[in-house]
Amino acid sequence: MSVPLSAPLSVVIRDATEEDMAAVQAIYAFYVARTAASFEEEPPSVDEVIRRRAEVLERGLPYLVAEERGEVLGYTYAGPWRSRSAYRYTVEDSIYVAPFVTRRGIGKALLGRLIDRCVALGYRQMIAVIGDSANQGSIGLHRALGFRQEGVLRGVGLKFGRWVDVVIMHRVLGGDDRPLPDGGVAPPLPPMPGNASSR
Ligand SMILES: CC(C)(COP(=O)(O)OP(=O)(O)OC[C@H]1O[C@@H](n2cnc3c(N)ncnc32)[C@H](O)[C@@H]1OP(=O)(O)O)[C@@H](O)C(=O)NCCC(=O)NCCS
Repeated sequence: MSVPLSAPLSVVIRDATEEDMAAVQAIYAFYVARTAASFEEEPPSVDEVIRRRAEVLERGLPYLVAEERGEVLGYTYAGPWRSRSAYRYTVEDSIYVAPFVTRRGIGKALLGRLIDRCVALGYRQMIAVIGDSANQGSIGLHRALGFRQEGVLRGVGLKFGRWVDVVIMHRVLGGDDRPLPDGGVAPPLPPMPGNASSR
């Protein structure tokens, strides 16, 4: 499936800078405080958001923003899906668009560009871990960009005094028929730093 690259005409999709992180923090804080899209319960500080971006860049992964007339209206980035080495061709996306500009095509343009960047880097699968099975915006956006819903983990989160589901969606990057990278032996991508993952 081809990925649309066009954003609304006045919107520019570009690599994020450290200066963008205050706007990114404000967008994310809105959704942390009011929705179950993220399972964080306290919005991180701007410094923490800067640290998280640096971690994404250290791994060579893309972190993008959508800007209109100098204002950051949304952002997206790719992170490792799991830390164990066999997962090294699989990434997870995160995407947030400011609440006052949703449904204008900004999410589609951001995620489309992220997918293209990850394909170009050699990644093979992208996974979306969507907070809340009522999150029609994220489910609809991912479906529109070729993700398939693979499952629902029922009640795995507790936020705002209710059990919250996680919806898992998945998309192949670059087509099913791509040959194995370098004969499937050499890892061309930097190893992901370890975390507490046990899978
Ligand atoms: C999910 C989110 C990023 C979508 O961004 P957006 O800019 O509103 O999305 P777009 O306008 O590009 O929508 C593209 C397509 O996605 C689907 N879509 C978007 N919002 C939808 C909704 N509320 N209900 C159903 N489908 C929706 C539609 O197919 C839409 O195309 P259309 O408008 O031509 O019908 C945005 O709603 C958001 O930030 N939500 C809160 C945070 C969140 O859930 N992030 C994801 C965490 S995994």
